[in-house]
Amino acid sequence: MTARIIDGRARAAQLRTDIKTAVSAMQQDGLGVPGLAVVLIGADPASEVYVRSKLRATQEAGIESFSHHFDDTVTQAELLAFVHKLNADPSVHGILVQLPLPAHIDKLAIINAISPDKDVDGFHLENVGRLATGQSSFVPCTPLGCLTLLREELGDLRGMVATVVGCSNIVGHPMAELLLKDDCTVLIAHKFTRDTAALVRQADIVVAAAGVPGLIKGDWIKPGACVIDVGINRVPAPEKGLNADGTPKTKLVGDVDFDAAVTVANAITPVPGGVGPMTIACLLLNTVTAFCTQVGREQPANLAA
Ligand code: GUN
Repeated sequence: MTARIIDGRARAAQLRTDIKTAVSAMQQDGLGVPGLAVVLIGADPASEVYVRSKLRATQEAGIESFSHHFDDTVTQAELLAFVHKLNADPSVHGILVQLPLPAHIDKLAIINAISPDKDVDGFHLENVGRLATGQSSFVPCTPLGCLTLLREELGDLRGMVATVVGCSNIVGHPMAELLLKDDCTVLIAHKFTRDTAALVRQADIVVAAAGVPGLIKGDWIKPGACVIDVGINRVPAPEKGLNADGTPKTKLVGDVDFDAAVTVANAITPVPGGVGPMTIACLLLNTVTAFCTQVGREQPANLAA
């Protein structure tokens, strides 16, 4: 058996086109355009890459972007004051503070200072609580992207056994909540789980979000399962040759041993080109949702969950 490769890049491109169309229609109706503020603190190279991609996608969709960069010497009080300013700015409908933050900043204090109505990351305590209690909320972008792919691949998820590997606030935990909301039986493995393989072997759906390259082996996958790989790990790839400085070239791999799993699963996301592009598309979607709520417009039907 060879699994179907789930093309997250194509699905995300379609979603971004739909968003662009909806944004343009709302602008023509005189509602203005959604605005997204992206706040980056410090000079973490991975965060810089992610923020650049998010800003580019925002602009391509016709959403106004406001980019703010602070040195990592910024104080917590300064950041809190800045978030309050964005909360009060009517041209800003969504606010994203890129994580991780420098160690001297209290991450939760910053996240919980964002107005819940502008919390397009879905990290604010109010949105986390609303998701956990089945109320409408902003949903973190990566799990929302995974759920979109799963529903399209499998239809109704009711009764399926879903194992989520990884329990972060950004991916694993909200993913488990979403799967529970879709009536799955949810198993969660984390770094203290004694036998992760045993939990994965039961799963009709595997969501791998541990951040450990190749953690999930091919023989852990139940034949016919659907595998969503959230991991984006850069590893040495000596087979690609050397860089000018003599270090080996690198490549991106997921948390799943793809070459083995693809022979057992029914469907699987690749890395890159699977979940990653969906995360950015879902950020745009959440920004449009925030805009619609704030201007009193119903979410365009083609974007409804
Ligand atoms: N860092 C890694 N992933 C994310 C994300 O989805 N949102 C924010 N704000 N920071 C991140």
